[in-house]
Amino acid sequence: MSAEPRIEVSDDPSAAVAERLVQAAAEGRQIVLTGGSTPKTAYEKARALGADWSRATFWFGDERCVPPDHEQSNFAMADRALLAHIEPAAIHRMKGELGPHQGAADYERQLRAEFGQGMPQLDLLLLGLGPDAHCASLFPGDAALGERERLVVGVEVPGMAPLVPRISFTLPLLNAAREVVFLVSGEEKAEAVARAFGGLRPGPDAPSSLVRPAAGSLTVVLDEAAAAHL
Ligand code: 6PG
Repeated sequence: MSAEPRIEVSDDPSAAVAERLVQAAAEGRQIVLTGGSTPKTAYEKARALGADWSRATFWFGDERCVPPDHEQSNFAMADRALLAHIEPAAIHRMKGELGPHQGAADYERQLRAEFGQGMPQLDLLLLGLGPDAHCASLFPGDAALGERERLVVGVEVPGMAPLVPRISFTLPLLNAAREVVFLVSGEEKAEAVARAFGGLRPGPDAPSSLVRPAAGSLTVVLDEAAAAHL
């Protein structure tokens, strides 16, 4: 039975996640960054905390199919906020510029090169939550939610803006992680939080309700506003 989500209401969720990032980096962990806007502050706070980043390896859970310097690029956001200012062991960028399918295949090759043929077990996997309860680029009702073999897939038509094709981790890869941490803030996410983590029956209409690490932990770090319907 997979872990039930641990709900951690904080008056400063980004600071709580920044501390997790710094701790994982100090332990030389495999860290998966998420995109969107919420995590930017957490990355900036992690950078300000200062850490030994030298043994940390960074991955991305999803990316928009745009160039790496594009304003909609998840890499560009994380690079400006953190990665350009530190010297980690490795940064594995999802090459959105290759397009959804070639980009997904390329990233799967990068994961296989690092982890071999088994199911990669990433250490700290950060996710955000969309108001439709999507995470990574796994949107409600999308066929990508049914993928059970591949680690990474292309998503041609995302369910939310920015309406550009995506590259995304699949559920098997998300659920193989040692520690999954959702970072959520704002009242506009409260309904999605309740649908994803409020004990309702999991299903493809709320993709984040399907993220339940089989052998790992699941923590939802959020502010009071996002927790309002729990
Ligand atoms: C992306 C993200 C996505 C994000 C949620 C929440 O590529 O957009 O990976 O899954 O985490 O949409 O985004 P906000 O933090 O901007 O609300």
